Amino acid sequence: MNKKISNDWVKRSRKAVWHPYTQMKHHENFPMIALEKAKGCWLYDYDGHRYFDAISSWWVNLFGHSNTKINAALTKQLNTLEHAMLAGFTHRPVVELSERLARLTQNNLGHVFYGSDGASAVEIALKMSFHFWVNSGQKKKNEFVCLRNSYHGETLGALSVSDISLYKDVYGNLLNQVNVVDGPDSRHKNVEEKTVDYCLEKLEQILQLKNDRLAAVILEPLVQGAAGMVMYDAAYVNGARRLCDKYGVHLIADEIAVGFGRTGTMFACEQANVWPDFLVLSKGISGGYLPLSLVMTTEDIYQAFYSNDIAKGFLHSHTYTANPLACTAALTVLDIFESERILSANRILSLKIKKELQWVASDCRFADFRNLGMMFAFEVQGGNLGIHFPRKVFREAAKHELLLRPIGQTIYVVPPYTTSDEEIVHLSESLKKTLNKVLGSK
Ligand SMILES: Cc1ncc(COP(=O)(O)O)c(C=O)c1O
Repeated sequence: MNKKISNDWVKRSRKAVWHPYTQMKHHENFPMIALEKAKGCWLYDYDGHRYFDAISSWWVNLFGHSNTKINAALTKQLNTLEHAMLAGFTHRPVVELSERLARLTQNNLGHVFYGSDGASAVEIALKMSFHFWVNSGQKKKNEFVCLRNSYHGETLGALSVSDISLYKDVYGNLLNQVNVVDGPDSRHKNVEEKTVDYCLEKLEQILQLKNDRLAAVILEPLVQGAAGMVMYDAAYVNGARRLCDKYGVHLIADEIAVGFGRTGTMFACEQANVWPDFLVLSKGISGGYLPLSLVMTTEDIYQAFYSNDIAKGFLHSHTYTANPLACTAALTVLDIFESERILSANRILSLKIKKELQWVASDCRFADFRNLGMMFAFEVQGGNLGIHFPRKVFREAAKHELLLRPIGQTIYVVPPYTTSDEEIVHLSESLKKTLNKVLGSK
């Protein structure tokens, strides 16, 4: 095996690379893993170990690593047009992708603006909403509403509309004020404060009070991912849409984590029978290959920017806007959705995984086993297990050929859509062995 090579990469990485979402000192006790390659649902390190990618590499990988179809499309595109600026130019992949995405919203959201990562697309949506109101003569509408424990990314604007103190508090002085309202949580059906009706009432109160100063409400439809895979009823999204319409405030749906089939439908908003004013997409869009994000919006909003006055235009850009390779990966993802009837195949896959994980629901060490589409989560009981619990689980899971990254005491799996029957069994058994070891057997 290549232990020496692996150690060398790890050592050099600790010296030269500042890793994301990491207290680097923790790596003194929790060594990172140097990856050599990936194929299908598996990641491989230099020591000859493999890991089932149960979290789809931070929720992005839909159709497996090194996917033959995406590889072929990218190779072709690489030899055709790798990149050119999008200001003053256009190209086939961006036009086709925009048209196809618009069709998926039945042309309700027919204008697509491109970003790179999720947070940058959230910034675009926030700026566009505010700028729309400025262009419409309502300059005072410069505040936003977000849900308790929401997560929309780490850049300053996105962090301003997020509500997770671990990521946010230290930067408080740099951030804009935001109006935080309680959101529903299906884990607490009997707690009034967590019900859809109560939370819609709270939302209405703030909209009634401040609608002349509010630009938009932003939410993660159906699942608040980083909050700990908090799932809630589509009726809330439907109600939020109705209230936003009533009080003249935009609705921004951040489907960065839940879009592209994760919750069972192509877009989570479809389950609420509504379209937002701004639909924000990223992560799965490129099948986990390349950074790509975008914001889709309506004809009305687009028209408010369409003018002889340059300052009324949306003068936002980034250098790699709609990179042709990233757009090609996204087009191939859409092809695979169609040709392999992924949404209906996922309905069966989701049931199989849920069935295999039934032991979780009957184990008293766990609570609130929940599932929506290709997302599964549960809580570990037993009081506070300490800040190192997620890292301990990560390390133990790796020994059982599994990639897991709990959020606090929430264990979740969001596997690739190409997970096979054999891999489902592996996922379930490795998960059980991991938790038995970390928590002690029942
Ligand atoms: C709902 C949601 N919004 C925004 C983001 C930020 O995306 P990125 O990490 O690509 O900036 C994430 C990332 O997990 C997310 O889950």
